[in-house]
Amino acid sequence: MESEIRPGKFITLEGSEGVGKSSNIECVCKALDARGIAYFRTREPGGTEIAEQLRQLLLQPSEETLTAKSELLLMFAARSQHIEQQILPRLEQGEWVVCDRFTDATFAYQGYARGLGLQPIRWLEQFIQEGLNPDLTILLDLDPQIAMQRIADRPKDRMEQEALRFYEAVRNGYLERAGQFDRFHVIDASCAMDDVARAVTECVDRYVSRVEKAIG
Ligand code: TMP
Repeated sequence: MESEIRPGKFITLEGSEGVGKSSNIECVCKALDARGIAYFRTREPGGTEIAEQLRQLLLQPSEETLTAKSELLLMFAARSQHIEQQILPRLEQGEWVVCDRFTDATFAYQGYARGLGLQPIRWLEQFIQEGLNPDLTILLDLDPQIAMQRIADRPKDRMEQEALRFYEAVRNGYLERAGQFDRFHVIDASCAMDDVARAVTECVDRYVSRVEKAIG
């Protein structure tokens, strides 16, 4: 008899710019490595050749203003490629997927901060994702004023050129979503880097234990 392939788990990392996502996604991966779990690390927008081209279009500053609606649709175009070409096939094979941002970012950035509202995003989410949602979402939460200071010296992409008010709306959007879904785990990113890293590692470790217990 063929052995049953268990669907993999889908972990996402979220937070506004400057919260330390890049270093903490390493912690997620190391925690999975330590538990011997095979995973695919990826990011949004991006994760496939076409989606990475869309990412460039989305993040490169340009003379012409990219409208909020175009931005939303391009995010979901990239996501559609990513889901069909990479995420779903891997989850179906039992591989885990670790993704730097997913649709919670669209709700926070385009829905709340750009002011497009939640309705069009909910519709696109259903159309494009067909029920696919992360199993665990780690949200790194930080006052945008502190976050902006942390990234003050680095070159800014198109999205990073927004004013503080925009990032306050992003943060509120994320926190509102975190209050709505059990899959969220919010970590205070204002603590010392080592403490944040430890909290991320512990969160993944606890989640893996829960999954392993559930499948016996
Ligand atoms: P990052 O890879 O450095 O996080 O940059 C991605 C940027 O794109 C970041 O500013 C957040 C933004 N973004 C959205 O506005 N909506 C989305 O759905 C996603 C995935 C990202």
